[in-house]
Amino acid sequence: MPQKTPIDQMMAHQSIRKFTHQTVSQEIINTCIKAGQAAASSSFVQVTSVIQVNCAQNRAALAIAAGGQSYVESAAVFLVFCADLQRNQEICLRQHQQMPTGYTEQTLIASVDTALFAQNVLLAAQSLGLGGVFIGGLRNQPEVVTKVLKLPKQVFPIFGLCLGYPDQDPGQKPRLPLSMVLHQEHYSNDNLTHLANYDTQIRHYYQKRSQGRLNLTFSEHIVKTLVKEARPHMLPYLHSQGFCTR
Ligand SMILES: Cc1cc2nc3c(=O)[nH]c(=O)nc-3n(C[C@H](O)[C@H](O)[C@H](O)COP(=O)(O)O)c2cc1C
Repeated sequence: MPQKTPIDQMMAHQSIRKFTHQTVSQEIINTCIKAGQAAASSSFVQVTSVIQVNCAQNRAALAIAAGGQSYVESAAVFLVFCADLQRNQEICLRQHQQMPTGYTEQTLIASVDTALFAQNVLLAAQSLGLGGVFIGGLRNQPEVVTKVLKLPKQVFPIFGLCLGYPDQDPGQKPRLPLSMVLHQEHYSNDNLTHLANYDTQIRHYYQKRSQGRLNLTFSEHIVKTLVKEARPHMLPYLHSQGFCTR
């Protein structure tokens, strides 16, 4: 079989939540992490740490913290991607210099860098035949995650990533049409023109995937998802870890 080109592989993405029992070698995990490290880094600050969680007890605690997501336990590999300003703070202190912390911009940099890192990890894993799903659900209970992983101040968990050999083929979720996301020269408020078609497409997608049980358009999904409080504990939590204080 001809190998997929990198762009074919990106376009074939689907989140995988069911895995075979096949283990993943540490060599493969290390290769994927190195691919993550190869991502661009804002001002080359390299503000990501990844925690590989192997201990079943800790996996169970994290699965609960993420809202009862069982694949956090069943995946061959579970990684937690953290924004980490602590390492650079330590480097500055060794040079007898204080590093000013708490700036919201630093949180943005660390979050953006870490997301780029993690997407590279997933792409590398997919190129080696693995599948996976990100676990933002860890931010349901960030204090628990912080305790389980013994995260110091200036480090916070952005999301987890389950990886393993796929035991499902759930089908790809159709994305918004290009005309709704690519604007030319300036922001166009005419960006809902193709929404009705897309709503129909997503309704068909959900119906097929759920054998008719789920009857939901994209618009309905958005309203259901976004018209409620979004983890209001995050700001006090970030403050407690020393982020976004100014
Ligand atoms: C940052 C981030 C956090 C996510 N968190 C979760 C999660 O906690 N649980 C889950 O099942 N899926 C999670 N997902 C997966 C999304 O639900 C999924 O990417 C989306 O529905 C699109 O489906 P696809 O990835 O199969 O194309 C997350 C995705 C991202 C990018």
